[in-house]
Amino acid sequence: MKILFIGDIVGTDALAMVVRLIKGFKEKYNADALIVNGENIYEGKSLTRKHADELFGVGVDIITTGNHVWERWEARPLMKEERRILRPLNYPRENGGAGYAIFETATGVKIGVLSIQGRVFLPPIDCPFKAADWALERILAVTPNILVDFHAEATAEKQAMGFYLDGRVSAVLGTHTHVQTADERILPNGTAYLTDVGMTGPYDSCVGLRTDIAIKRFIYGTPHKYETAKGDLKISGVVIEINPTTGSALSIERFMFPEFERSQHQESPIEAEADLLINS
Ligand SMILES: [Fe+2]
Ligand SMILES: [Fe+2]
Repeated sequence: MKILFIGDIVGTDALAMVVRLIKGFKEKYNADALIVNGENIYEGKSLTRKHADELFGVGVDIITTGNHVWERWEARPLMKEERRILRPLNYPRENGGAGYAIFETATGVKIGVLSIQGRVFLPPIDCPFKAADWALERILAVTPNILVDFHAEATAEKQAMGFYLDGRVSAVLGTHTHVQTADERILPNGTAYLTDVGMTGPYDSCVGLRTDIAIKRFIYGTPHKYETAKGDLKISGVVIEINPTTGSALSIERFMFPEFERSQHQESPIEAEADLLINS
């Protein structure tokens, strides 16, 4: 059985790209389940019912989120009524919404999805490790097939979570930093792990934000209005193959579409001419 997971969708242009292409990806990877992180769809912050319905309409089973989901008031009632949208479990219960869900694929396999958030360089909410223990007691009573979206900033915290849950869940996938890491592997006890799935959004940007605004924020040290960058859209994702009777991962493959460009530098005509002269 295969699960396709798409990393943080930033902006509605990226959402439209996912909606247009996701069925093709599902076919290409022969995926039985689709999970996406939607914490940044609405101008970088959170999502609305309309955005969620577009994703559910193309076959998305579960939408995970993260710290930015709370930044639109309308997301709170939405998460209270829509169990397929998760918020990190270790935010205080009084905020409403669910931190885990169990759904069934078309072939009748049950899959649990757990959303938790790290505490390094993020709000000091409840312990994600203890929260995961609490949820796993409940999910494992129903299914061994479990995917964890660990929304966290620090690589070490993400790796620690991977090893903490190794052998108890099918996959621990990192989100939030918006840059795909190249460390996908299956841990010793059978859990697939990737530090960060990466961003689904505009790559001519600083993690989705227009580069000029990001630079101002750092130089001035003060807030500057968020605007999602445009263009160079890419989808970042990962495909996990699981043995559905044990929940162990058999393989993990990450992808970016279109592929990441190693150089975006374009020579001016004069530079190209100079090169020609030197090399001739
Ligand atoms: Fe994000
Ligand atoms: Fe985040």
